[in-house]
Amino acid sequence: SKKVTAPELLKMKEAGIKISALTAYDYTMAKIIDSAGIDVIIVGDSASNTMIGNLTTLSITLDQMVNYAKAVVNGTSRALVIVDMPFGTVSGNPYKSMEAAIRMMQETGADAIKVEGGIEVADDVKKILNAGIPVMAHLGLMPQSINKYGTYNVRGKEDAEAKKLIEDCLRMEDLGVFGLLLEKIPATLASEISSKVKIPTIGIGAGSGTDGQVLVIQDVMGMNNDFSPRFLRRYADLHSIMTMATQNYIADVKAANFPNEDECY
Ligand code: KIV
Ligand code: NA
Repeated sequence: SKKVTAPELLKMKEAGIKISALTAYDYTMAKIIDSAGIDVIIVGDSASNTMIGNLTTLSITLDQMVNYAKAVVNGTSRALVIVDMPFGTVSGNPYKSMEAAIRMMQETGADAIKVEGGIEVADDVKKILNAGIPVMAHLGLMPQSINKYGTYNVRGKEDAEAKKLIEDCLRMEDLGVFGLLLEKIPATLASEISSKVKIPTIGIGAGSGTDGQVLVIQDVMGMNNDFSPRFLRRYADLHSIMTMATQNYIADVKAANFPNEDECY
């Protein structure tokens, strides 16, 4: 079926059709979820955690993100592919930010990029948009700023933080971003923002009032049982399935039951 575009997400919001999104970091996973009909695939810098095992997203580099994004693009034919700009690549030097964003688009074939931040990165985002690159702004909990906040707790619970978040969202919409990613904020606040802006919002831990939902693929598939936040719903238990498959394989190899005659040349 037809490729999903950034303008189409806006049409989905206007029509009241919810946007489905998942993360992916490799060709095989991307191919499975794209074929299953997902609207948006986000190549998140959560790859730092899920693919590399780092404690935070700060450690992943532009080179590494380019590699994951390229793999996902190769496995995708319908979904809109949005790639995270990693820590330090969009941070107050608009020309450098634009160069990094151009490199990401050119070397991966992704459809859009995502940038954490609001007013602080406005000049960078403007420069990137001027280069013709669609940008999604990521607000609320911003994992790249973990060292500034010290926790991954819910954001925007206090009035001052909620007010700044709303201002950031409106400012980003004015600049021309095509969408907002809202992470871990109160459901009422996310609903309010989603009705205040014309552009689509995609939420994670932000309640049901956003225009779409995203979750991390390893979490959804039940591969990562150490992580159980309230907002997560698991749709499979791949941890058990893969553990059993591995144990069965080991048993067959040890018992010399694999390969059998049919599996030999
Ligand atoms: O890195 C990530 O996985 C994200 C998700 C919230 C989409 O930014
Ligand atoms: Na991210």
